[in-house]
Amino acid sequence: MYRTKTCGELRIANVGEQVTLAGWVQRSRKMGGMTFIDLRDRYGLTQLVFNQETDAPLCERANKLGREYVIQVTGCVSERFSKNDKMPTGDIEIIVSELNVLNEALTPPFTIEEQTDGGDDLRMKYRYLDLRRECVRRNLELRHKFCIETRSYLDSQGFLEIETPVLVGSTPEGARDFIVPSRMNPGQFYALPQSPQTLKQLLMVAGMDKYFQIVKCFRDEDLRADRQPEFTQIDCEMSFVEQDDVIKTFEGLTKHLFKTVRGIDLGETPFLRLPWSEAMRRFGSDKPDMRFGMEFVELMDVLKGTGEFGVFNGATYIGGICAKGCAVFTRKQLDELTNFVKSPQIGAKGLVYARVQDDGTVKSSVDKFYAPEVLNKLKEAMQAEAGDLILILSGDDANRTRKQLCELRLLMGSRLGLRDKNKFALLWVVDFPMFEWSDEEQRLMAMHHPFTSPKPEDIPLLDTDPARVCANAYDMVCNGVEVGGGSIRIHDAVLQAKIFDILGFTPEKAQEQFGFLMNAFKFGAPPHGGLAYGLDRFVSLFAGLDSIRDCIAFPKNNSGRDVMLDAPSAVDQKQLDELEIALAPRTE
Ligand code: AMO
Repeated sequence: MYRTKTCGELRIANVGEQVTLAGWVQRSRKMGGMTFIDLRDRYGLTQLVFNQETDAPLCERANKLGREYVIQVTGCVSERFSKNDKMPTGDIEIIVSELNVLNEALTPPFTIEEQTDGGDDLRMKYRYLDLRRECVRRNLELRHKFCIETRSYLDSQGFLEIETPVLVGSTPEGARDFIVPSRMNPGQFYALPQSPQTLKQLLMVAGMDKYFQIVKCFRDEDLRADRQPEFTQIDCEMSFVEQDDVIKTFEGLTKHLFKTVRGIDLGETPFLRLPWSEAMRRFGSDKPDMRFGMEFVELMDVLKGTGEFGVFNGATYIGGICAKGCAVFTRKQLDELTNFVKSPQIGAKGLVYARVQDDGTVKSSVDKFYAPEVLNKLKEAMQAEAGDLILILSGDDANRTRKQLCELRLLMGSRLGLRDKNKFALLWVVDFPMFEWSDEEQRLMAMHHPFTSPKPEDIPLLDTDPARVCANAYDMVCNGVEVGGGSIRIHDAVLQAKIFDILGFTPEKAQEQFGFLMNAFKFGAPPHGGLAYGLDRFVSLFAGLDSIRDCIAFPKNNSGRDVMLDAPSAVDQKQLDELEIALAPRTE
């Protein structure tokens, strides 16, 4: 046996026991005639003691151990003279009698401690060392628990876990596909699934009734803190259900996960269901962070045409937020906010602000254009009080301006400490538009995906005014993050063909890409619907992380690279020849 105990389990009750431990040398200290070593494994840290006086040769060997050496020790558990109440094993130490070096180690390129001196790139290059750090490991443990509890809950609800293939045809979800050349079918390519969407629908046609899978999905899109090119979904589908059934089932799963993984009881109350149009109007976002208020107030009536300010007079949308107690913001702080909204990624033209002073009067950056009565009306409309700061954006595209105001609201929420990572605000956003206009493609695009059914009452609008059709779709939002999304699907081949037509597919193209699905629907497709959670996003919220990368064992960086494996990389000419692939000359 390599060990009789782990490095995390010995307590005062074990004093006097003879034990064998194995692990990595975290750090060592020499104090007088004693050498202390912290030994680490997955379960914790235990202090080892070597005494020059009682066993000089052993102590000298201990002095030669470097950081991250893998060792095995045998010794007696003894009560510590000076206890460390920050460590679970801090009451004891091991008086070592035998030391066995299992493996030496190079000095690691960064310190393997809670606070490390390693930068992001270095840690990713040596991710296997980074994963030795307790704070990183804990995220993987949480992810494991999340998966186990998901499986156990969905199993208890009668769901079957069914695997679907990774080498498939194109599955449009709005991103680019990763494609894989086929040697046996030269000139032809598989696509990696952006999600198992069509396959899970086929499983419903196959009568599986309730399906789930914890599954890798692949999307070639620009990366952000909450996006990876390969990520994991908890993918689900159910037959003979309506929107309410799906929402109730997954609210159940969510509450179960909060309780079992985070110890948070969300109670019996159903989550808020917010129509998409209301979410956009009140928060400028289809994934509002509802941990705090600061809702938008539309100010067109108050500020357009009521003064000489040309910017507002020419605007098609003017909106404000009220930051409680922020009238004390200095000029510098306000300039920072202005620079933020004017930065290229936000793109607003400028920021107007108004302070409500102690005497209740309003002092604004546009005072010279407005009579005091108008500013007073502004105060009333914003329900602002003495000490509050009103921040106003305007523009000629209401949706764009709302999005800009949303970013400002989130920034203010963060500044004011209103986005506490230990607080969770969950809701469903429902009644999404079925389509959105794409300037790039110059056509309507599916807002969710092409298999989403329209609201039954809106079906007649498909012929007359498709842009106004609402979808039977829903997103689950937690703390401003879209953690999941789904819809009731179209199960009728004729309606599906019509949607493809609106999306600009010719019947031939639709048949070529989705013939398998439309044909399957001709063999008795049950009404069905489902949803997929973004597992990485949900786990990172549970763990309070800023990026989903931190809960993924081997993530990609922002350029989609795995710096540890150095992937992607060039392949041998022989491999390309076998695949009959010729590379075009590269223009740098
Ligand atoms: P959707 O595209 O909304 O729906 O994806 C479901 C959830 O997956 C997560 N997600 C991502 N997480 C990390 N990195 C990414 N690049 C990424 N893209 C998406 C999000 C999102 O809510 N087939 C449908 C689901 C359905 O209709 O049942 C689908 O894939 O949390």
